[in-house]
Amino acid sequence: MNEIKIFSPATVANVSCGFDVLGFCLDSVGDEMVIRKTDKKGIHITKIVGFDLPYETELNVAGVSALAMYDAIDVDFGFEIEIYKNIKPGSGIGSSAASAVGSVFGMNELLGNPFNKTQLTEFAIKGEALASKCEHADNLAPAIFGGFTLVKTIAPLEILEIPTPQDLYATIIHPQIEIKTSEARAILPKEIPLNDAIIQWANFGSLVHALHTNNYNLIERSLHDHVVEPYRSKLIPHFDAVKSTMLNAGALGAGISGSGPSIFSLCKGLKVAKNVKDAVEKVYSETGIKFDIHVSKINKEGIKII
Ligand code: HSE
Repeated sequence: MNEIKIFSPATVANVSCGFDVLGFCLDSVGDEMVIRKTDKKGIHITKIVGFDLPYETELNVAGVSALAMYDAIDVDFGFEIEIYKNIKPGSGIGSSAASAVGSVFGMNELLGNPFNKTQLTEFAIKGEALASKCEHADNLAPAIFGGFTLVKTIAPLEILEIPTPQDLYATIIHPQIEIKTSEARAILPKEIPLNDAIIQWANFGSLVHALHTNNYNLIERSLHDHVVEPYRSKLIPHFDAVKSTMLNAGALGAGISGSGPSIFSLCKGLKVAKNVKDAVEKVYSETGIKFDIHVSKINKEGIKII
């Protein structure tokens, strides 16, 4: 096999109380990429469709993660990468992560799968770091593993797969403004009060327990963010109105997706997720800001060949 086409999914990182460690994978949104073996050695980005991103390998997220893998192998050929980008950069649903994992997943397939999923995430971290100016894997891990993932440690990298309750759906609104992850990180405090930390890790532990036990009521009572949301929500126009609309329409919980501006909700059942979509659509249509809305099942498979 000399060429492969893949679907690289969008993801929601943080999931309210799990800043930098928890994430889940979306089903209905993602990029497509073609990875091809070539006689010419090295990594070459030959096509980018959808958004204006750099072709220079070292300046492109997909290129940097591909180079990290390429440096770890010894082959007498190279790879070409075509990127068909559907996830807007700076949207908060893992645009850079989709690019970063796409190249290494495709290369790994063409090489006969010498690397496991954790090793792929290690390479992808290098690409993600180019975009966000720090190494974190809470979008990368769900894109590669699917479902919910918990990044226990970055060095050494340890990823835990968390079960997904069958009836869980996500509704996500993406206001068409750009928030750079690096800037959304820069506004966060370096230290937090102990009381906030206690509330946060109680909610985080409860959420993970709820996902393991299909306890929707406990998911509802755990999806709160006392640490990051108070700072970042100020960057997102009409955040409070959207969040309360989502909750009033029946969502279990709602919060900032990754570093924003997207806002996610988790819902029990497709019907509720669609109700949330309709309600938010109505509210945001009145703001004059363009937006997309996605309703998605939690994608348990993750990145795949198409
Ligand atoms: N955990 C990251 C953040 C996700 O919130 O900054 C965005 O890349």
